[in-house]
Amino acid sequence: MESIDVFGICGSVRAGSLNRALLLAAQELAGAPFQVEAWDGNAGVPHVDATMGRPFPAVVATLRDRVAAADVLLLVTPELNRSIPGNMKDVVDWLGILAPPRPLAGKPVVLMSASPNRLGGAFAQLQLADLLRRCGAEVLSDLDVAVGYAHRHVDDHGVLVGEDPRREIAELWQRVLTRVQSDRQVVPA
Ligand SMILES: Cc1cc2nc3c(=O)[nH]c(=O)nc-3n(C[C@H](O)[C@H](O)[C@H](O)COP(=O)(O)O)c2cc1C
Repeated sequence: MESIDVFGICGSVRAGSLNRALLLAAQELAGAPFQVEAWDGNAGVPHVDATMGRPFPAVVATLRDRVAAADVLLLVTPELNRSIPGNMKDVVDWLGILAPPRPLAGKPVVLMSASPNRLGGAFAQLQLADLLRRCGAEVLSDLDVAVGYAHRHVDDHGVLVGEDPRREIAELWQRVLTRVQSDRQVVPA
């Protein structure tokens, strides 16, 4: 079976991040034919600016090329004040700029979130979905993985051990697999 290249970004730069634990669990649970890269470069992403005089900053250019090459983008977001962190907004705004290689145009995206609160970052995830659609991406998930009370599901080593969230992640990957495989069977006219 042809592999499915997934590029994963976590919107937290915090040591001991619950969302980083979620990203690593998503990587672990994906299994073949997925190959999930868990990127940890987002702390180095500068604030977006609207200067049209490109070139992009080097880290941004590399990120844009990597996302354009991926089959699926995985974004794992914390929730701050019922919204996404500024760092995640910068990442998506940079990716959404309509210059070649247009990384978000038609890009399949999977969203996940984790929070110590009951709703697991659902507000942030919905906002992120809106933002991505605005940028032309195709969001494949619908709050399938929003891990509430996430601190209870992550052990002292930063491993997501909760059975329910692990099952939800595995089930979401199955749906994504079905979707990507069916897209690959469509022969362009
Ligand atoms: C300024 C601030 C605002 C927050 N607002 C929310 C919120 O609106 N909803 C929520 O579920 N958690 C909120 N939290 C708690 C975060 O979800 C929690 O700190 C979480 O651990 C951050 O993600 P991380 O562990 O991946 O860094 C807030 C935290 C901070 C510092």
